[in-house]
This record gives sequence, structure tokens and C-alpha cells, in this order.
Amino acid sequence: MKNEDNLLDKIVSLCKRRGFIYPGSSIYGGFAGTYDLGPYGVMLRRNLVDEWKRAIEEEDSIAFIESSIFTSRKVWEASGHVSGFSDPLVVCNSCHTKQRADHLLESIGAFADEKMTEKKINEVFDAHRKELTCTICGKKDFGKVRAKNLLATSTLGVFEEDDQEVYLRAETAQGIYINFKNVFDVGSYEIPFGIAQIGKVFRNEISPRQFLFRMREFEQMEMQYFVRPKDAPAAYARWKQKRFEYYPTLGIKKEKLRLKQHDNLVFYAKDAWDIQYEFPFGWNELEGLHYRGDYDLSQHQKFSGADAGVYDEETKERYIPHVVETSVGVERTMLMVLCDAYSEDEMNGEKRVVLRFHPRIAPIKTAVFPLLRNKPQLVEKAQEVYRMLRQNPAFGGAVRFDDNGNIGKRYRRQDEIGTPFCVTVDFDSLEKDDVTVRDRDTGKQERIDVKSLTLHIKEELTK
Ligand code: GAP
Repeated sequence: MKNEDNLLDKIVSLCKRRGFIYPGSSIYGGFAGTYDLGPYGVMLRRNLVDEWKRAIEEEDSIAFIESSIFTSRKVWEASGHVSGFSDPLVVCNSCHTKQRADHLLESIGAFADEKMTEKKINEVFDAHRKELTCTICGKKDFGKVRAKNLLATSTLGVFEEDDQEVYLRAETAQGIYINFKNVFDVGSYEIPFGIAQIGKVFRNEISPRQFLFRMREFEQMEMQYFVRPKDAPAAYARWKQKRFEYYPTLGIKKEKLRLKQHDNLVFYAKDAWDIQYEFPFGWNELEGLHYRGDYDLSQHQKFSGADAGVYDEETKERYIPHVVETSVGVERTMLMVLCDAYSEDEMNGEKRVVLRFHPRIAPIKTAVFPLLRNKPQLVEKAQEVYRMLRQNPAFGGAVRFDDNGNIGKRYRRQDEIGTPFCVTVDFDSLEKDDVTVRDRDTGKQERIDVKSLTLHIKEELTK
């Protein structure tokens, strides 16, 4: 476990050093559970979001929406989040600190998860009470496990004394359910179809931890697929398979992925599976795949009075569509691709750290260097090559010019960012109009004519 923790520490430090991810509010000592994206983090995020969108709408009719973060309190009362969205919390009677009961149980190898009911987790906790030690004071004296609601709140109002407490959204899914009829009534979409959205969500996590794994503010990519009830099992099976097969297309190692069914269902789910990834701290949920039945649309119909039903031309009856949900965090996906890509090896007798990103998700596709920064002809030629690549739409602007430090240092820097190709302009380039292209993974270098360079790299990137 020590080495694996160490790996996570190395990734955290690389992310900061190379401008992927910084701890939130770091100059003020940090703000737990929040992280800020740096320039390469923004580019990595954009690639992951683009890939997700492409895959989600590859074969299906999908409408994209963007709903508000501030919503009526009733949304969360109807959804069940006010009464049922909680983490199991336990207080140490000796030092009075609050801790996650499921994490304490996990630490001694006892099975527990955050989705257990309060009654169930109290039973498990009681069975192991004698073995459980407070992580702060070391005593074995805990109270009863209590459910702590995870909805994050804010206040809104004209005068402070009139301020109303509001919930920040805890999942993007509810914004989709409350807009289901708005989208359906436009007439462009017929059942089955999906509504998807990508956006920030907020959760009052008691113990944010493991870097991007458990945050208080994060982004979700969710898709709710609306089907006729009888078609729901087949749609659920199809989406489960489709999402599971998606991750290897991002270059993720197949042996690090698995599908796992939930033993304990959350309040809204009829069936639930996770796509799990083997993170440095063990197998954990990457993406949730839930069969939600008609729970959400029925709840909103009940609480709002607005009809959520649709007319079935075949049976000539009205019905409430069933929902199959796919839900994954952007940052959790980032953490997975960083863990999967991180590697240490030796090249030309030197140790190096390299992020072996799949070229499609690599933040920078190509870096261009002049061999020496103090030779104006080399710099000018390198700038010309850089502009040629950068302006080509195939690279989406993801090309860097780098003349800082010697060539070895520039290679190391680009390896740590995960840049698949480095192009160097040297003295021969001035005569022969060619450049050296170096492959990140093999270190192999080949000379390529400048006029064939764009096509060459484009082909290599899509191999
Ligand atoms: N709409 C269903 C839903 O929100 P969830 O299992 O609570 O289900 C879905 O969350 C996904 O969101 C997770 O699989 C994970 O990728 C991401 N996620 C959940 N909580 C998170 C947190 N605290 N920090 C980062 N990502 C989180």
C-alpha cells in the first residue's frame, strides 16, 4: 500500500509542477476538497469532455442541455436528496472528532459502503466496534453512526434578514428530469432518446480525499436515456456494455477496468453497476450506471403537479418513461487517465517520468524546438514550423513552442506533459528543409521533410 500511496503523491506533485492541477486556494493554505485546473489541466479536461460527448451521441439520439446550479428547494425534496442523500458519520466519544464510519470499517477490511442504510451500517459497525480505533486519538470509543446530509447550501435574498437557504445541485441529473418535458415537447426527439449535460456539482463531503477522487466541487458528465418500460432492461444492458468498452478507446488498460454490481442500492435505483478502475488506492468507482425506473419523473410529477407522461402510439396509452443513467465525474476520469498514463523508465541512460497518454487525450500533440535558442535562423525556422502546425485545424491549437533549457530538458518536460511528438529544427533543417521528429514512447527519431510533416504527425496521432 505504501508504494501505491507514493504513486499518488508522485502524480499530485507532477500535476502541480507541470501545470495540470493545483490545490484550491493554495496561497491561503488550501481549501479541502477543491482543486484548480492549470493550463494543461484545462486542455486535458477539454479532450476528455469532447471524447465523452462523441461517444455518448455516437449511435443514439441525444439532446444536450445546460440547467441552472441554483434550483428550487422542491427539486431536492422531490428527488429524495433532502431525506436520503447522506454519508455515515460517527463521533469519537474521546476526542469528539467526526469520522466516516464506512472508511473506518474499510480500514480494518470489513465490508461497508456509503450507500448502506443507517440501520445496516450501524449493525456492521456494532459487529466490529471492538476493533475500530479513532484515527486521531487512538481510543476505541465511538458513538452511534448517523447519516449526514451531503447537500451543499448557500443563501440568496435581497436583504440579509430575508435570505433564503438554497441547495446547490448535487447531481446534474435532476436538471435533466425537470426539463424532460420541455425538451420532449419541442418535437425533435422521440422515445428512446437521451438528454445529457456536463456541469459543476457540489457536495458537502465530510472527508474529501485521494486527490481528485472525492471532491466537494466537481464536474459531472451525465446522460439520462428515456425508454419505454419494457425496453429498459435491454437499454440498460446495452449502455453498460457500451460505456465499459469506451474506456479502452481512451488507451486505458483493460486489466485495470471491471464492472461491478451494487449490493446496496441507493434510494432511486432499481439496479446499479459501477465501472471500477484499479486506482493506486485500490478498486473504486469510476462511473455509475443506474437503472432508475420511473422514480425521478414520477417524483417530480407528484411534487410539482406537472404531467411527466408521454403518449405511446403503439398501445394508445400514456406512460412515464423509464430512465437508464450513465454518470461519471470529469475529475475522476482525469485522475484515472493520469494514473494509467504515469510511468517511470530509463531513456538513453537517464531516468525519466512520462505520461503515456493516448494521443487523442494528450493536452499537447506536438512541441517544436529550435536546437539552440541563441541562433536566430534556427528560432525563425522553428517558429515557422510551429505556426504551420498550430494553424492546422487537425491539431486544435495544441502545439507548443519550447526553447527553454537544453534539448534534453525540453524532452523531459514534454514527456511529463505527455506530448506524443517533439519536432526539432537543427542546422541541417536550414539546408534540407526537414526536421527531426522524436517519439515520446520509444525515443526513436526520424527526419521528415517539412512539407510532409503535418500529414506525418496527423497519421501518427490517429494510429
Ligand atoms: N446522478 C447519479 C450520481 O450522481 P454518484 O454515484 O453519486 O451518482 C456519479 O456520482 C459519478 O460522479 C461517480 O461515479 C464519480 O465519477 C463522480 N463523483 C461522485 N462523487 C464525487 C466526488 N465527491 N468527487 C469527485 N467525483 C465524484
